[in-house]
Amino acid sequence: MEERLELLFSPLRIGRLTLKNRVVMPPMNTNFSDENGAVTSQVIEYFARRAKGGAGLIVVDATSIAPEVKKHGLQPMLYDERFVPGYAKLVEKIHRYGAKASIEIIHYGSETTYPAGPKVSASNVTGLGGVEVHPLTREEISEIEDQFVYTAYLAKLAGFDAVTFHGTHGYLIAQFLSPLYNKRQDEYGGNLENRLRFLQEIIEKTKQKLGDEYPIMVRISTDEYMEGGRTIDETVAMAKALERMGVAAIDLSCAVPNSYFFSIAPGTLPGMKGLQRENAKAIKAEINIPVIVAGGIRDPYIAEEFLEAGVADLIALGRAQIADPDFVNKSIAGRTEEIRPCLSCLTCFYSLREKHCLHCAVNPEAGREYELQVPPERADGKRLVVIGGGPAGMEAARTAAKRGYQVTLFEKKCRLGGTLYPASMPAGKEDMRKLIAWYEGEMERNLITVMRDAYYTGELDQVIKPDVLINATGADFSRTISGSDLPNVLTAIEALTYPELVGERVVVIGGGNTGCETAEFFSDGAREVRIKRVRNFAGELEYDLLPIANGKSRQVTIVEFFPTVGNQLGGMHKPIMDLKLATGGVRIMTSTKVMQIYEDGRIDVEGVVTGEKEVLCADTIILAGGMSSAAGVWDTEAEQVFSIGDCRAIGKIDSATYDGYFTAREI
Ligand SMILES: Cc1cc2nc3c(=O)[nH]c(=O)nc-3n(C[C@H](O)[C@H](O)[C@H](O)COP(=O)(O)OP(=O)(O)OC[C@H]3O[C@@H](n4cnc5c(N)ncnc54)[C@H](O)[C@@H]3O)c2cc1C
Ligand SMILES: Cc1cc2nc3c(=O)[nH]c(=O)nc-3n(C[C@H](O)[C@H](O)[C@H](O)COP(=O)(O)O)c2cc1C
Ligand code: SF4
Repeated sequence: MEERLELLFSPLRIGRLTLKNRVVMPPMNTNFSDENGAVTSQVIEYFARRAKGGAGLIVVDATSIAPEVKKHGLQPMLYDERFVPGYAKLVEKIHRYGAKASIEIIHYGSETTYPAGPKVSASNVTGLGGVEVHPLTREEISEIEDQFVYTAYLAKLAGFDAVTFHGTHGYLIAQFLSPLYNKRQDEYGGNLENRLRFLQEIIEKTKQKLGDEYPIMVRISTDEYMEGGRTIDETVAMAKALERMGVAAIDLSCAVPNSYFFSIAPGTLPGMKGLQRENAKAIKAEINIPVIVAGGIRDPYIAEEFLEAGVADLIALGRAQIADPDFVNKSIAGRTEEIRPCLSCLTCFYSLREKHCLHCAVNPEAGREYELQVPPERADGKRLVVIGGGPAGMEAARTAAKRGYQVTLFEKKCRLGGTLYPASMPAGKEDMRKLIAWYEGEMERNLITVMRDAYYTGELDQVIKPDVLINATGADFSRTISGSDLPNVLTAIEALTYPELVGERVVVIGGGNTGCETAEFFSDGAREVRIKRVRNFAGELEYDLLPIANGKSRQVTIVEFFPTVGNQLGGMHKPIMDLKLATGGVRIMTSTKVMQIYEDGRIDVEGVVTGEKEVLCADTIILAGGMSSAAGVWDTEAEQVFSIGDCRAIGKIDSATYDGYFTAREI
């Protein structure tokens, strides 16, 4: 075992339960249940894969206590005995690998949003905007408490080793606990003791039904990061009260829906790595029951340091275990460089809505574990040539090599990674360089011949005689605007790769994700934006500006054809980006078209609606608008030729790795 991770991989007791190590897979919605909320084979295989990978405790994602309580299309449900056999199968498979299982039990309260569920809460307060919420009567409170207890009872029946009550993220229990949401005048509102009453009654009733020994855990927010919400001081007092109530462990997350970018933080939130360190430490110092902490922990040595420093007793590695289910076993074996890094990109979270179930940008197997149970046919001795060393090409190369293909990969540049390299430049996207390093390692570990600074030619084809050729040459920004081939014009790929080429005055053409990130990178004002909290439900942010080394401080203008910028940024990324652009002093010209670029740096622009003309001046003009594929035509005698990734259809990292993986698996 890796000796430097001794604490992380030592056992721990939670009440009567002994865990084999300190790694928790925290609850994360998957949308893999069936349309009634029952367990499917995919649910089982997804969690079993993480148990097999070594986690000590798996907490199954937020599971609803009643059919009308839904936030996700395929919300897991456990309110009737008919669900129990499915969960029993799930628990059995988690146990097979030595992990223990808990299940998170939820009522979404006023956040019951799918498709349009009844909105109830402590009071008529919600961040949803213009929505009426029914404040629960005492009788209704008691009924809901009983539903929580019944779900816990069914969980025990299914074999779960513990239950976790969902008291965080601004859902029903959290709404009662929060001074922001709970404005009641009766014994369920007002001081902390009263706001705790709903949860306390759930805990007491559960103990009565399931026995005092059955471990009950509670997930709470350390801080709600909302003005008027609960802050760490009161949470410390709350944790002490929960300990007195006989809770077996406290599981720490943070925030409410309107400040969600703290709880499931994107990489671009400054300080997101180990976000809860200080708050967790403050809580742990005051209680004796185990504390679980989550939030941006990606490195086993940081996890170990958290344990050593008394931050927590257990470390929840959420997205890290989506990206690499073998995180734990690789760490135990000291093979930490083999861990596929999570990018904190939130493709997993956004995919719950966009693609309806969880997928991962870097791990194409995540969310498809059941489908992929049968290994692909061997292809020993067959020869494969991959052209292009971006994520699509490298994923294809490693997947094919695992099947026995002899793979040669050609990359025209001196380094691997493709567009991942420039994409890694803006603040908070550095982990993309870890992904490049991981892929480089995979090339070596899978004995792939990598030819850098190399083009593929007809003569090479005659020598290698590939059976299959995969074209993964990516895409580049189109130079269609008049003057865009002048020397003072760079593509965003060039500008981010060689920032020293960029002058003082910059005009970025295109205000999509890449345009905004490029503008932000060059305009950062030499100051990091530390968001402290959300001021109100309208989303106004309170922040500090901290000095940083090597800030760019260029004078930047974005010119965008459409009426807004950053349209494709997800809901967690957008407010952070808007704030960074504003504090970086970026001028944003929307509904504006670039007509002509001149050699002396003048740029003619015109209002799309108004027709108003203006002349901008820049030292460097950066193209961040439309891209076109770079699909090559090869002189080859290979029997099969495929195009994958951006050179097939312009997409993102997830589509590139998906294409690479499935093409190589199925050829
Ligand atoms: C600035 C920027 C930021 C981005 N940020 C994100 C993000 O945050 N999240 C996200 O999901 N996506 C992002 N993307 C998109 C993402 O990077 C791409 O979708 C992804 O890299 C495509 O992978 P690929 O392997 O198909 O192509 P690429 O990554 O472009 O790789 C293609 C490779 O082929 C090589 N090549 C080309 N022609 C030849 C040839 N003839 N011979 C040999 N080699 C050749 C190229 O040099 C390159 O290395 C970003 C894109 C840009 C431009
Ligand atoms: C896709 C996704 C779904 C999530 N669903 C839940 C959930 O059902 N219940 C919950 O308490 N937290 C949920 N979370 C929050 C995680 O449990 C975890 O606290 C958070 O991702 C921070 O930890 P990490 O940085 O290790 O991922 C979710 C997170 C993600 C990424
Ligand atoms: S989708 Fe992105 S954030 Fe989510 S687990 Fe994968 S790499 Fe991490």
